Amino acid sequence: MDKRDVVIIGAGAAGMMCAIEAGKRGRRVLVIDHAKAPGEKIRISGGGRCNFTNINAGPKNFLSQNPHFCKSALARYTPMDFLAMVERHGIAWHEKTLGQLFCDHTAKDIIAMLLTEMRAARAELRLATEVSSVERSQAGFRIVTSGGSVETTSLVVATGGKSIPKMGATGFAYRIAEQFGLRIVETRPGLVPLTLDPSTLSEHDGLPGVSVEVVAGHGRATFREAMLFTHRGLSGPAILQISSFWREGEDITLHLQPGLDVIEVLSAARKVNGRQAVLTVLCEHMPRKLAQLLVRQAGIEGTLAELSMRKVEALGEHIRRWKVRPAGSEGYRTAEVTLGGVDTDDLDSRSMAAKSVPGLYVIGEAVDVTGWLGGYNFQWAWASGYAAGQVA
Ligand code: FDA
Repeated sequence: MDKRDVVIIGAGAAGMMCAIEAGKRGRRVLVIDHAKAPGEKIRISGGGRCNFTNINAGPKNFLSQNPHFCKSALARYTPMDFLAMVERHGIAWHEKTLGQLFCDHTAKDIIAMLLTEMRAARAELRLATEVSSVERSQAGFRIVTSGGSVETTSLVVATGGKSIPKMGATGFAYRIAEQFGLRIVETRPGLVPLTLDPSTLSEHDGLPGVSVEVVAGHGRATFREAMLFTHRGLSGPAILQISSFWREGEDITLHLQPGLDVIEVLSAARKVNGRQAVLTVLCEHMPRKLAQLLVRQAGIEGTLAELSMRKVEALGEHIRRWKVRPAGSEGYRTAEVTLGGVDTDDLDSRSMAAKSVPGLYVIGEAVDVTGWLGGYNFQWAWASGYAAGQVA
């Protein structure tokens, strides 16, 4: 029987970080993954350049039933800690916007860095290996895989969430959690494009491909970023961000072109030339198709001179508080993350250990901690992997 101190299932961001840290402590570590290559999501992340952290990452950037849970791990492994590793490996990086750090060249640099660190820590990686069962044993756990059985004292579940099933996402973590009596906070797709019903889409004729700056809002959450009209509905960073807060049947509010004061623009244009059409003036400040839609929805026709102040204000309000009720989301097929997951009430926030199952740990996206768009999810993967790696 193959025997290890720590077996980590999942060679993604969290699993590899945990392997490095546990290996450094002299633990005999084995990482098992059913994929042919490690870190596949790292490879495709950030458009191939991996937005590997966010220098502003803090507890406020995460959604969880318990917003305090992530604090300890995030405080003990910070964006600067990860950046120090990146720099030690000579990987060129840049800040794109809003504290988001990306590789200059390729996300593969991050995977290579983690593999180098794993080798230095003597952590073994076994790819293309299916796990058929996990059972309690005298030593701790027996893991039966397509490559034989292995016994371990500590078992770390790092198999991520359900997003992008085409890339091997399985929901395995939730099955293991349930098997050992850990609760699951209902899962749903996050950071995902939203879809619109056919009648709304027909109103958007000519808009797919158009991108505008918006403040997307839902409840108290607001994000000022770009929004993209698509053939299915709405996407772009602002929509992905707000999708994590949105629930079916609810509206989102979009402040279109937040830098534009519509009332001021129309009033000034009226003084110069009252015979101009309202649409002509709006088109100078936003894509024509969008201006046409907004003017139509607000029931406005004719010239500036014909427009009452009340109507100008109503148009301004319409553009500031454009309400959209999404029909749904594109689902796990395109979602960047899975919201919900293993209930943090059942885990220790310092170590990610299951409170009721000695030796069992859950890290990364599998846990009910989900970051905003912008490098926060990797920061959670590094920080939770680091936390478990100190004790597993
Ligand atoms: P992750 O999913 O990375 O790893 C899980 C591993 O477990 C995989 O290797 C998988 O093969 C393996 N596995 C699953 N089931 C298994 C089973 N049954 N048996 C064995 N192995 C199994 N975040 C960010 O901060 N910046 C970014 O730029 C991006 N960009 C981005 C783009 C796209 C397209 C997506 C889909 C996601 C992102 N993300 C992101 C999110 C980020 O990729 C994600 O949050 C982390 O990869 C989560 O890390 P984990 O290690 O928890 O899971």
